[in-house]
Amino acid sequence: MDIKKPFVVGAGIMGSGVGQLCAQQGYEVTVLDISDEIIEKAKEKIKAGLKRRVEKGKITNEDMESVLSRMNWSADMNLARECDFVIEAASENLDIKKDVFKKLDSICLPTTILATNTTALSISEIASATSRPDKVIGMHFFNPAVIMKLVEVIRGEKTSEETVATTKKFVENLGKVPIATDKEAPAGIVSRVLASLLNEAAIVYAEGIASPQDVDEAMKLGAGLPMGPLALIDMIGLDIHLAKMETLYAKLKDERYKPPEIIKNMVAEGKLGKKTGEGFYKY
Ligand SMILES: NC(=O)c1ccc[n+]([C@@H]2O[C@H](COP(=O)([O-])OP(=O)(O)OC[C@H]3O[C@@H](n4cnc5c(N)ncnc54)[C@H](O)[C@@H]3O)[C@@H](O)[C@H]2O)c1
Repeated sequence: MDIKKPFVVGAGIMGSGVGQLCAQQGYEVTVLDISDEIIEKAKEKIKAGLKRRVEKGKITNEDMESVLSRMNWSADMNLARECDFVIEAASENLDIKKDVFKKLDSICLPTTILATNTTALSISEIASATSRPDKVIGMHFFNPAVIMKLVEVIRGEKTSEETVATTKKFVENLGKVPIATDKEAPAGIVSRVLASLLNEAAIVYAEGIASPQDVDEAMKLGAGLPMGPLALIDMIGLDIHLAKMETLYAKLKDERYKPPEIIKNMVAEGKLGKKTGEGFYKY
């Protein structure tokens, strides 16, 4: 099945990025969030980003206008009736995702694939809210979605091979590289492997061993990372990182995944990273 009309749920960091990617690759896409205010903010952010690319001479004004014209925005989920593929990128919360999938299941055509961009929640649990678990799949983009090459494709227990194949093809048509897990696993490959590294960097800072700048610079110069781990947590969002750690700890019951106190405290103080203007750094 060739995908023609994608629909994105959530206009936060990931949803708006995935929506922009779809539009850049020529798809007519609709991006949904819960309020007009959130939608306006996301729209403005994308416009500003594209404008900067025009100013730098990377794209033409015409390119920008054509990408923007392919992006439709709405708070009405009934519009998902028209689409053949949904990418859900709402908040990392199982109840929210199950509620979204239940609604989508009742609105969308029976053939529509429902994918989730969840970082670590169970695909099977999300799929259990629908009558089509064979058509529910994990499609894990990386931040920023327009730039990062990889999309992990994560199976649920009942995901069909046909759904996996269609999703991989769609990922390729989006100009990305799909890597599929062989079985369901919380956080797939990259987020799981990175989890302990990010936590350890936060703990090194919390123990007073080094400043965020020095932790990040040391990891860039000494470990060859393209970006410091604390700057990466800020970009991901501390709330998203915490939700991932809580899921991994609960599912894998391994002390390695215990969320560090400093992350819990910073989330409680509203220091969620770039999106709130303060995390390990100020923005
Ligand atoms: N931030 C990252 O680096 C990253 C990377 C990969 C995957 N993810 C995953 O992508 C998903 C979204 O993360 P994010 O960083 O974009 O979060 P975010 O907080 O920036 O955005 C989440 C958006 O979902 C919206 N939302 C909440 N309930 C909704 C509902 N019922 N219907 C529609 N929209 C709803 C919120 O209003 C918000 O705009 C999460 O599952 C997260 O784990 C995040």
